[in-house]
Amino acid sequence: MTSFELTRLLPADHFARALREDVRTGLTADDKWLPPKWFYDKRGSELFEDITRLPEYYPTRAERAILTERAGAVAAATRARTLVELGSGSSEKTRLLLDALRGLGTLDAYVPVDVSESALREAGEQLTLDYPGLSVHGVVSDFTAELGLPRSAPGPRLVVFLGGTLGNFTPAERARFLTALRAELAPEDAVLLGTDLVKDPAVLVAAYDDAAGVTAEFNKNLLNVLDRELEATFDPEAFEHVARWDAEREWIEMRLRSTRTQQVAIPGVELTVDFAAGEELRTEISAKFRREGVAAELAAAGFALHEWWTDSEGRFGLSLARPA
Ligand code: SAH
Ligand code: AVI
Repeated sequence: MTSFELTRLLPADHFARALREDVRTGLTADDKWLPPKWFYDKRGSELFEDITRLPEYYPTRAERAILTERAGAVAAATRARTLVELGSGSSEKTRLLLDALRGLGTLDAYVPVDVSESALREAGEQLTLDYPGLSVHGVVSDFTAELGLPRSAPGPRLVVFLGGTLGNFTPAERARFLTALRAELAPEDAVLLGTDLVKDPAVLVAAYDDAAGVTAEFNKNLLNVLDRELEATFDPEAFEHVARWDAEREWIEMRLRSTRTQQVAIPGVELTVDFAAGEELRTEISAKFRREGVAAELAAAGFALHEWWTDSEGRFGLSLARPA
């Protein structure tokens, strides 16, 4: 029988507490910053989907092209009974893997894990209709706090982390995340990791600063989240979207630049925050990778790289790795 379940893994007050802690830490720092997970309320998840369809935002199309070509090979190599996806969003590209694993007859369950309950519900309910007989078990979690891997799910398990979301972590966070993931895996399990690749900075900057202004709206939506959740008085119109390539660290930074001197009240954390004219708040990094770097980070966390695939233009990389 077909079923869709949703589990909330963390205590009911986890997200409210974590947001307050991040705001206290990030907005009192000399260089103001916030982690990108707070983009993804219902509106933020919708805006991300709009981004994936923009002409400038190539990563989704490039990764889909790789999956279209390689999903059969992934299925044959893993013979997964459980497919776990971290940061699943709309699960659109995942359908290529679901089709391949179902075609092989090995797949019992799909476990999408995401911080966005609205995205999980929308995707999970549709997948349940489209894949009769597949158990779809959504997990609301912050994968930096609790990965959400179902321990009792039948193996082999294939854990996928697509879209380049690993690049939204700092290098230290990536090492922590990959090590925690490795510790949860059995020898027969596998990981499929999508990473955006270093390329012409003009192409990269355009992908994060599109002509239609959708990425700017996505970035500023963070301020709407703070206004709603913490009764803050941010005026999104008083901030400009900034996307900048850091050539040394090989990552894109998204920032919000204050257009004037202003003071913002954040009653939810009993804080008043001053912004100088031109001062920036960093909202996201999006690291871009090279094959050697991905292999080295995987190896350092206890994985062996088995396959490395790119799209025909070499824009995006997909790694199939196993516990070493
Ligand atoms: N994998 C999809 C979506 C990528 S967008 C794709 O490739 O298109 C990043 C996704 O990760 C969003 O759905 C967001 O809600 C989720 N996400 C971001 N930070 C998260 C966190 N800390 N814990 C769980 N999910 C997170
Ligand atoms: C989810 N993540 C991989 C996206 C990225 O490209 O870093 C988020 C995003 N930010 C701006 N546009 C898209």
